[in-house]
Amino acid sequence: MDNTATARARANIALVKYWGKADVELNTPAVGSISITLDTLWSQTQVRFVPGLDSDRFVLNDLSDRKQLARVSACLDLLRARAGVDTRADVASRNNFPTGAGLASSASGFAALVTAAAAALDLQLSDRELSIFARRGSGSAARSIFGGYVEMHAGSATDGCDSYAEPLAPPEAWPLQVVVAITNAGAKAVGSGPGMQRSAQSSPYYAAWVDTSPRDLAAARAAIAARDFEKLAAVAEHSCLKMHAAALASEPALLYWNAATVECMHAIWRLRREGVAVFFTIDAGPQVKAVCAPGARAQVAAALESLPGVVETLVSGLGPGVELL
Ligand code: PMV
Repeated sequence: MDNTATARARANIALVKYWGKADVELNTPAVGSISITLDTLWSQTQVRFVPGLDSDRFVLNDLSDRKQLARVSACLDLLRARAGVDTRADVASRNNFPTGAGLASSASGFAALVTAAAAALDLQLSDRELSIFARRGSGSAARSIFGGYVEMHAGSATDGCDSYAEPLAPPEAWPLQVVVAITNAGAKAVGSGPGMQRSAQSSPYYAAWVDTSPRDLAAARAAIAARDFEKLAAVAEHSCLKMHAAALASEPALLYWNAATVECMHAIWRLRREGVAVFFTIDAGPQVKAVCAPGARAQVAAALESLPGVVETLVSGLGPGVELL
């Protein structure tokens, strides 16, 4: 082996959300989730195991990132243990979109990291095993191993071995488009990990959120199988608003939206009333992801761009799973 490999993984957006952990150490989710993998938003990561290096190094977008280093190292430790080596690594990653602002940079980042590290260590891992390793870095990263429509299983095994993602349908099965409205490109105040822990510990709505998740997963699965846009729109917006309701009722409160986020939601509902096939979803940040039929993309982007507070829009189709370069 030459100790070096590079992988590219795409961001994904959950239509049925993950919020809450079953086991913090194993990073298993309390609920399953369903996502779409995007094509134009990606992380590309090179991992080089260097004999003699006394600690891992992590460079993100050309800057040494000490804050994320511990998380990256912990994930590499799992792969080193599997390979039976303790060589430290030089990791260089690049995101082609804003980092840490609710655009799933940890999903694409950890999916690319584990795939490149496994290849650099010459480990022959199945996609399912990669998904399990990616989950340890970030719950949503387990989904970015696969392309198109993806389901993450919460699982119930005490070692997390049944907590992985699986493809539901390839991108071309139903080529929806996503218009991301950026309303604030800065990093968010409370990351998704600490945010979901706070909700689990203090939100009176958290138990209801967990209890009602299987129903949402079943509805989304059926809507995707039937290519039923209206049904997918209804369940995705419900899951998003229910997640944010649980977050809002946390102590202290978690409000990820700004005024422009809310303006985008109203604009998307207006478009839908006028017959445009579009719905929204929002993660742990103020950006709005408008999912639409291919023909509606230009109209949706124009409507969102015209709103005060929308800084820019990014447009993406659905993309493939992680690739080794
Ligand atoms: O993978 P994490 O730990 O960044 O959590 C992701 C949480 C949400 O983005 C809010 C929802 C989801 O399912 O992606």
